[in-house]
Amino acid sequence: MKFITVKTYEELSEKAADIIASQIIVKPNCVLGLATGSSPVGTYKRLIKDNENGKIDFSTVTSVNLDEYVGLDVTNDQSYRYFMNDNFFNHVNIDKSKTFVPNGCAADLKAEGEAYDKMIKDLGGIDLQLLGIGLDGHIGFNEPDSCFVGPTHEVTLDESTIKANARFFANEDEVPKTAITMGMMSIMQARKILLVANGAAKKEIIEKSFFGPITPEVPASILQLHPDVTVIFSEN
Ligand code: GLP
Repeated sequence: MKFITVKTYEELSEKAADIIASQIIVKPNCVLGLATGSSPVGTYKRLIKDNENGKIDFSTVTSVNLDEYVGLDVTNDQSYRYFMNDNFFNHVNIDKSKTFVPNGCAADLKAEGEAYDKMIKDLGGIDLQLLGIGLDGHIGFNEPDSCFVGPTHEVTLDESTIKANARFFANEDEVPKTAITMGMMSIMQARKILLVANGAAKKEIIEKSFFGPITPEVPASILQLHPDVTVIFSEN
């Protein structure tokens, strides 16, 4: 594991964007695993600049996102599809038909999960997976559990996650109680993983995840078993 500590969120975003840019330069038709949350927003901003100034070209890139709230569709400004369009896809030359987010409005979420994993497999797997981390150690929406769950699946969100994400909604009651998330299988099969975290509040969970025991109670700790992980952390 490569653990990089930086001083500012700006620096974190610049480094993360450089790693993603290198991936695209090395393999222009790569599959990027993308994440939502506030942590990667700065990275997306840098990538948009890099695209504008001609440093990177997204036209042959495919993306697969980690997760989506159940019941929110693209017209809802809190859906992760809306977030990705708004913060990233609408501002770069990626082919939108090659950007995938799990469908949280699917009638059969189990079938949706199976189809999502099959699609990732058919794409040849994920070359580089970008991750944030929740305060309880969740990656995607894989919450603390008694076992690591492999396939893309429906999850019940933890009380702490609902509270943490309530800041984006009108109030806590508006936060969906369930979500669909890529499981540990597709995440761990990604060839490279890049996790970004910032803020003093994340320090404890970062320490637990990367320097503590590997346990499903701290979902991100499974990443210690991955052969190519880069963590970029900034306290500010
Ligand atoms: C959400 C997302 C996660 C993300 C987490 C942390 O719950 N499902 O993928 O990592 O938020 O968000 P933030 O970066 O805003 O702290």
